[in-house]
Amino acid sequence: MRKPMMAGNWKMNKSVSEATALAKEIAELTSGYANVDRVICPAFICLPVVQWNLKDSPIQLGAQNCHWEESGAFTGEVSAAMLAGLVDYVIIGHSERRQFFGETDESVNAKIVAALAAGLTPIVCCGESLEQNQAGETQSFVSGQVRGALVGLSAEQVQSLVLAYEPIWAIGTGLAATAQQAGDICGKVVRATVQELYGAAVAGATRVLYGGSTKPGNIAEIMQQADIDGALIGGAALDGKSYAEMVRITSEVYAA
Ligand code: PGA
Repeated sequence: MRKPMMAGNWKMNKSVSEATALAKEIAELTSGYANVDRVICPAFICLPVVQWNLKDSPIQLGAQNCHWEESGAFTGEVSAAMLAGLVDYVIIGHSERRQFFGETDESVNAKIVAALAAGLTPIVCCGESLEQNQAGETQSFVSGQVRGALVGLSAEQVQSLVLAYEPIWAIGTGLAATAQQAGDICGKVVRATVQELYGAAVAGATRVLYGGSTKPGNIAEIMQQADIDGALIGGAALDGKSYAEMVRITSEVYAA
């Protein structure tokens, strides 16, 4: 069975001291829910101090991005190799990075390769825009993003990573996809594409998250979808109580 994951993407929010306080609050509030993987992704600058403060906790850490080269003249960038030992996960290809920082399927693929080489687990994002959704292009676009991300990866590598379907129109808008819509795309497009490329066993072992306006009020329905293994949570993960509530609800859905 695929273990559920609640991953908080803190984006460009929280100072070092605020991030430390929130991480400690989350560790405390979610300590009883070991059947859920609890992952938080603070900004790069917060990672060392948050890691130190969580060293006795089951909370896992993720970064929000990485570079594809190991080191070199790339001012302002952080490599996957530098993150090794500090985090377990790294979010790659979030729509905000594709939209505002020119990331492409090729750079996403290169970053995934670098992350895996550094021993990190990539959380690979895909998702269509409102225009693409309305034009009926969701299936072909999302499937194309998944194919582009996975170029050259082995079956073992693919089943070790995490895919996250995040329709752009649902991110930060309060307009979540319905649980059924989200479940359909996670299953019939994201997981189905993995199955087409790598077979049913790999597709059945790969975790697929949904992201986009998830919150305590809609997470139960979302987690009841057979093909959704967790959530990549933005806004609601910045509040310790709401994140912990989502972990609690997920824990209950999986215990049932
Ligand atoms: P949201 O963000 O939960 O605030 O919609 C999700 C994400 O961008 O990962």
